[in-house]
Amino acid sequence: MAEQTDKLLVRALRGQICPRPPWWLMRQAGRYLPEYRALRAQAANFIDFCLTPRLAAEATLQPVRRFSMDAAILFADILLIPRALGQKVEFGDHGPSLDAISPETGVAALSDRGLAALDPVCETIRLVKSQLPDGTTLIGFAGAPWTVATYMAEGGASRDYPAVKGWAYRDPPGFQALIDLVSEATTSYLGAQIEAGAEAVQLFDSWSGVLPERQFALWVIEPTKRIVESLKRRYPQIPVIGFPRGGGFLYERYAAETGVDAVSLDTTVPLGVARERLQSRVAVQGNLDPIALLAGGTALEQAVRDIRETLGRGPFVFNLGHGVLPQTPPDHVATLARLLAEPFVR
Ligand code: CP3
Repeated sequence: MAEQTDKLLVRALRGQICPRPPWWLMRQAGRYLPEYRALRAQAANFIDFCLTPRLAAEATLQPVRRFSMDAAILFADILLIPRALGQKVEFGDHGPSLDAISPETGVAALSDRGLAALDPVCETIRLVKSQLPDGTTLIGFAGAPWTVATYMAEGGASRDYPAVKGWAYRDPPGFQALIDLVSEATTSYLGAQIEAGAEAVQLFDSWSGVLPERQFALWVIEPTKRIVESLKRRYPQIPVIGFPRGGGFLYERYAAETGVDAVSLDTTVPLGVARERLQSRVAVQGNLDPIALLAGGTALEQAVRDIRETLGRGPFVFNLGHGVLPQTPPDHVATLARLLAEPFVR
């Protein structure tokens, strides 16, 4: 336990102000790295890649070897949960596609494979843990129920979310059954990740920003709160990061009500607001624009300085506001690593 508590990332997530803010990047493993593309070519498809522990562990470790982030994030995907729940999930050239479940058939249409289908993910965690540098934290993750439900009901990415939002508006009890099913599976899955060695977990709610306040409370805050409560009962020492992307003014309510230890800020959250209204309650993580990282140069330097100077005064983890884009030059990530290693004046 002492070994875990000393890690910089865990300290920051628990609310401590660190001598140097720890950092990692969402989607730090991925197509922008040539070694990732080579590894990816060894698997027949993306799901096989995620469920082959040797390959997934290697993908997890690649960015840490190159850039020495303070954390590795498990290489997997949020859509492994719908698959484990019995939905057909495929990844094509245009992103994921699922056999959408409809409000008429609802969750009854699913034929649960059981969470044993996710055992390879825990094996990945054990493999990564055996090779992780001292001081580097392993983060586990899952999609938050709302975001996972959007993929399950829309059958893939969407612009307006008519299927999932329509279902939630017309038939709240039926939609609640879907949210409950995903929430329970997610709680067990994150518990299994922690048992296997994950030292912190993040809930990705990528599409929380499409909901009005009342629905945000029902489908984002409530399920997140239940998952956090249940994890905290069993694993009180494991920090939970919530990422209600696009949450806008509702970030504050999310931070106050869900019980998460930290919130991950999207690029649009103003630094002063985060400092005054969020960091007084929870640790914050974020929020460099992924396009600023792609662009590089003085704009990148300035953005990094702004973020560190404002948020570095409180409990803080440097990250992006969303994932690394595939076109990002790896050199820019190396530059970022150098900037973040520079002495930090508060
Ligand atoms: O490095 C890491 O952050 C860990 C691995 C990780 C992946 N997906 C790997 C991945 C994580 C944490 C995710 C989360 C995820 N997956 C989210 C939430 C975060 C976000 O981006 O908003 C979402 C919405 C998904 C669903 C998903 N997976 C989509 C929409 C896509 C297609 C878009 C794309 O970038 O191709 C994926 C595929 C995916 N997941 C890739 C990776 C590296 C690219 C596929 C490939 O390499 O062939």
